[in-house]
Amino acid sequence: GRVLLAYSGGLDTSCILAWLIEQGYEVYAFMADVGQEEDFEAARKKALSVGAKKFFLEDLKREFVTQLIYPAVQANCIYENVYLLGTSLARPVIARGMMSIAANEGCDYVSHGCTGKGNDQVRFELAFYGLKPDIKVIAPWRLPEFYNRFPGRQALLAYAAEKQIPVQQTAAKPWSTDENLFHISYEAGILEDPNTTPPNDMWKLTAALEDAPAEPENLSIEFKAGLPVKVVIADQAPLTDAVDIFLALNAVARKHGVGRIDIVENRFIGVKSRGCYESPGATILRVAHMDIEGLTLDRNVRALRDQFVTIELGRILYNGHFFTPEREFVTSAIPASQRTVNGTVRLKLYKGNVVVVGRYSDEGLYDEHQSSMDELGGFEPTDTTGFIQIESIRIKKYISSLLIF
Ligand code: ARG
Ligand code: SIN
Repeated sequence: GRVLLAYSGGLDTSCILAWLIEQGYEVYAFMADVGQEEDFEAARKKALSVGAKKFFLEDLKREFVTQLIYPAVQANCIYENVYLLGTSLARPVIARGMMSIAANEGCDYVSHGCTGKGNDQVRFELAFYGLKPDIKVIAPWRLPEFYNRFPGRQALLAYAAEKQIPVQQTAAKPWSTDENLFHISYEAGILEDPNTTPPNDMWKLTAALEDAPAEPENLSIEFKAGLPVKVVIADQAPLTDAVDIFLALNAVARKHGVGRIDIVENRFIGVKSRGCYESPGATILRVAHMDIEGLTLDRNVRALRDQFVTIELGRILYNGHFFTPEREFVTSAIPASQRTVNGTVRLKLYKGNVVVVGRYSDEGLYDEHQSSMDELGGFEPTDTTGFIQIESIRIKKYISSLLIF
């Protein structure tokens, strides 16, 4: 059979490649460019030298930004109040890229290097089955004949030497990463002790607060229907292209040390996991988007959206349920929630902080006169007396446990 392998160029997937060939499969290697810093040419050479019959590199950056990242920004998606879902968001586009090549190239099998304890195995495989129900999955890290043969890194290194797989000279970093244009994650290795502080040189996408400039930097983000359509950073030329905007926000956030977190999260399969993340541009967008919603979004729409779309879509993304009817149902509510989310937020970045310094919009929900404490307007103050009387009916009946007399 022919296997399409999700290849990273690293030790694990190179050994998996050689091992699949040893099992009698014909292997095609697949890489997605989702904005990670990577020497794709070196990876291509390596895959072919290990024995891959073909190598595919798909540029999925625009699809990633417009089809996955932007809906998540519009819905303010976040997992367990802290994680902006950078890895979860990339999986559906990578899986779609793989299934389209598997279909075109007649691959009956697909394989990946995810461990048997993580989220990514679930995300990838549910996406594969959702897109191509007849695909057959080979998950070596869940096959006894594989994991018993390679119980640790030493066994992989020995196998790499035997198969003449080039292993990078630089000592492997003592943690595992996953990078794309939205974020980078760091997990495993020395990070498994949740009380071990990551070394300063682990962080890759953001400056340390100590090194961030002593001067703040201003920017403005214009939203249309909840999407950033124009970004102006300091006195630079305005940006309007979706990918350009995202990359520019990454660059300015990086400089000011915006978007680092260090957390312990609950994985879908039930284990806890310590992870460190840098999501620079995404952190700015989240602050700005939530702010413009404050000015432009109806109160009750917002409350419903927070409960049903924000929470549910976050869960759906994290748990790998992207190609499902519930995901289509939940995302169908996003455009309706964002119709009035139009306006501009002005921000200042300073030493890891994203500070809103002003906002404006042509939408009519906010009325300076109606909200003013200095003037009457819009409705009669006496109307509010009746509103409070009615609201108090039930409260007057309740014997509070905090009665102090
Ligand atoms: N814990 C994060 C998540 O579940 C990051 C996973 C990183 N994946 C990886 N293959 N290194 O989304
Ligand atoms: C892995 O287990 O392969 C990476 C981490 C995860 O998927 O959660």
